[in-house]
Amino acid sequence: MMGEINVYTIILLLFAKQAFGIRVTELTVPSHAVEDGSVLLQCHYDLEGDMLYSIKWYKDNREFFRYVPSNNIPFSYFPLNGVTVYVSIIHAYASARIGPARDQEKDSSSNVVKLVNLTPESAGLYRCEVSGEGPYFVTVFDEKKIRVHLLPYDRPRVIGLQEEYKVSDILAVNCTSSRSRPQTQLKWLINNEAAPRRHITGPWYRISDERPDARETILQLRFILKEEHFKNGLLQIKCQSSIAPLYQDEIVHHIMRAEDSILDPIPEEVINEEVNKMFGQHTQREERDPIPIAESQNDRNSAATFRASYSSIVIILLLKAIS
Ligand SMILES: *[C@@H]1O[C@H](CO)[C@@H](O)[C@H](O)[C@H]1NC(C)=O
Repeated sequence: MMGEINVYTIILLLFAKQAFGIRVTELTVPSHAVEDGSVLLQCHYDLEGDMLYSIKWYKDNREFFRYVPSNNIPFSYFPLNGVTVYVSIIHAYASARIGPARDQEKDSSSNVVKLVNLTPESAGLYRCEVSGEGPYFVTVFDEKKIRVHLLPYDRPRVIGLQEEYKVSDILAVNCTSSRSRPQTQLKWLINNEAAPRRHITGPWYRISDERPDARETILQLRFILKEEHFKNGLLQIKCQSSIAPLYQDEIVHHIMRAEDSILDPIPEEVINEEVNKMFGQHTQREERDPIPIAESQNDRNSAATFRASYSSIVIILLLKAIS
């Protein structure tokens, strides 16, 4: 009996288009969805004069939702792991469509299913199957795959950044994405241009502690700082993260050029000791005097970095003035 029906159905499927014209015109199923999110599945069909018997939804060949307008309860739902049909839609359907409704084959609400609380198990092949009335029950279908992604919960982080950098220093930093599935793609940019491949190491992928099915991505940027990296005293590094086509984020850091040492650096303790010997308690007051800075400064843009090494410069100037 089963075998006969299957053969019959297959023959009808083969000849469906020519003989009866019933067809699925468009199956709207997103190819990418987000864990904990929702999707709307829409099955558009054309009966070409036939009557609608049923619309059935399957995931990986297992039926989870059925609409049979001639049934007393036209909507049926079959529990399936990872497939949660939005309940209020079922209720709306049920209350609007108690009893036979065979004349309303084009009712748009009968061909929409909303799935909520998506989980990794929600991923799979979704099929919409439309059948015409007896005696032939011509059945046609279309199917599409849904991938379910776990998106990062945060923007990427940059680890290993120092407070200041000078020309000829090595900048070595890691960009790390928070866990995701599939893994996040990372990209480094220096002054808004893709970093040369020789400056990049990785990516490394680290299994997330909280989610063994997810990964953190790490990408290292490492290069020697040159004059040309600093535009007006500033270097910009940017780490971009993405999971196409759903997610994109970035983190930007601006690095101020620290003053190149004009004189050999003198340890701070030595300077303090010397200054205390020569000026005693006056040092504090002198240090707050801003005037000497302007004379020694040839690059307006490095004013901020001068402020960082302000005390030593003041001391050097004072020492010069004394001798
Ligand atoms: C960057 O990540 C790599 C790989 O995990 C690690 O070996 C290295 O120590 C990290 N560097 C910094 C600056 O965190």
